[in-house]
Amino acid sequence: MNQEERMYVVGNQKIKVERELTGQWILDIGGGGEGIIGLCYGNRVISIDPRIDELEEAPEEPLKIVMDAKELSFLDNTFDSVTSFFTLMYIDNNYHEKVFKEIYRVLKDNGEFVLWDAMIPEYDGGIKDIFVIQLEIETPIRLIKTGYGISRKDKVQDIEYFIDIGESIGFNVIKEEVRDKVFKIIFKK
Ligand SMILES: C[S@@+](CC[C@H](N)C(=O)[O-])C[C@H]1O[C@@H](n2cnc3c(N)ncnc32)[C@H](O)[C@@H]1O
Repeated sequence: MNQEERMYVVGNQKIKVERELTGQWILDIGGGGEGIIGLCYGNRVISIDPRIDELEEAPEEPLKIVMDAKELSFLDNTFDSVTSFFTLMYIDNNYHEKVFKEIYRVLKDNGEFVLWDAMIPEYDGGIKDIFVIQLEIETPIRLIKTGYGISRKDKVQDIEYFIDIGESIGFNVIKEEVRDKVFKIIFKK
């Protein structure tokens, strides 16, 4: 079977990323690849990703550091904002709570964690075992068309799933938006 036959494709998802974050330092979790947050906010961004090749591909302006979100090597209360743009879908669900706790720890009081991610339905055991989401991302710089893909096995998530994790570790939800199969949540510490 070829790759294409295995793909469960969610197409044509439109997202607008605006320059809305105030304060100085932004930590972008999984900021390799297109590096959308780095593209929008430039040298205010510290972009972490465990994959060197993904960081090398990302925009030049942010400070790029090889690091895993499960163990952030920053002091408590360091960042004004933390972002995750379609990164949590790449991290095993068993680690999500740990990652949220790390994000909470490195955020300053009243700091915001902005999460964009995809609604992923439960895998039915069929041939379409790769989840692919195709995005059209409008940024202040340019329009970016891209796609993100992962294995569907052991992967299911929606907006309520992440809200529950965030609230259980002490975040308040100050904004939630669903647009078709993508969502954005703003958590406040
Ligand atoms: C497809 S990218 C998401 C899009 C990216 N944020 C952007 O703006 O283009 C997902 C990224 O998450 C990274 N990632 C996977 N596991 C991670 C982890 N444990 N901690 C931090 N980043 C991780 C991957 O290496 C990959 O670069």
